[in-house]
Amino acid sequence: MTHQQVTKSVIPAAGLGTRFLPATKAVPKEMLPVFDAPAIEYVVRESVAAGLDDVLLISGRGKEAIENHFDRNVELEQVLTAKGDQGRLDLVRETADLAHIHSVRQGQALGLGHAVLMAAEHVGSEPFAVLLGDDLIDVHTPVLEKMLAVRAEYGGSVICLMEVPHESISLYGCVAIESTDSADVVRVTDLVEKPPVAEAPSDYAVIGRYVLDPAVFAVLRDTEPGRGGEIQLTDALQTLAKMPAEAGGGVTGLVFSGNRFDTGDKLSYLKAVVTLAGRDPDLGADFNAWLRDFTAE
Ligand code: UTP
Repeated sequence: MTHQQVTKSVIPAAGLGTRFLPATKAVPKEMLPVFDAPAIEYVVRESVAAGLDDVLLISGRGKEAIENHFDRNVELEQVLTAKGDQGRLDLVRETADLAHIHSVRQGQALGLGHAVLMAAEHVGSEPFAVLLGDDLIDVHTPVLEKMLAVRAEYGGSVICLMEVPHESISLYGCVAIESTDSADVVRVTDLVEKPPVAEAPSDYAVIGRYVLDPAVFAVLRDTEPGRGGEIQLTDALQTLAKMPAEAGGGVTGLVFSGNRFDTGDKLSYLKAVVTLAGRDPDLGADFNAWLRDFTAE
């Protein structure tokens, strides 16, 4: 069976970012700099690297800075041109040309499932990718392309799973799984959002990359608010996991074992900044030397 190709991605970025207050009171958490670029720029680059350059941002009140970052800034360009600063001019222009960026607003942050539903009109009846705007996957361990290959083989929806320490599974969406012939591909039989540790069906957490069948939209329309009073994508995926393939159901998991940073979480954010700074061709050597001295003190 051949499955429809994925051409579009959706990046939800309308959340309130309460875990990172007060930094995120007026600045979207997706715009916090991770070394020298805002978090969401890495996410857009990841989408484009996987061949998906039609990108829909789910934006909201106070999130205009995100749209501005991916637009032209003519005044800044004029100043840099007058100064003859070609290097910085290229940097400023590049983000405007990175992808075909569209945006739609989620009027109220009613949950990730509700944010994804905002994409229904733009996406139509094609499968599509979802990349969370504050979730960074290390470029050295890309996963989206592999997920697209899993979708091409299995159809339905594909989620990204990461094994986490047992006691922290209650912070994530969690899955019940069955193995397949491939070591890193599993069939997802059930999902539950942030379960108590004792009730978690596995130590596999759902992380912020998805390839979704368009059947998810009809399911989301019927999904009642769940944990935290939010419309949860996990709950819609639970319904999809139990639906027949002919109706767009079925959920497959790809087990990921690379580096991933949740930049909406302060500790994970710091790890992302240090990792990227340490790799920078200009500053990395000096930074790493300083860091070794600093931690030895
Ligand atoms: P999070 O749960 O990490 O975002 O959602 P949050 O609600 O902003 O975070 P805290 O817990 O208050 O700190 C993951 C992604 O989904 C988006 C967020 O912007 C983030 O990129 N999201 C979440 C929406 O777009 N809309 C929502 O209603 C909720």
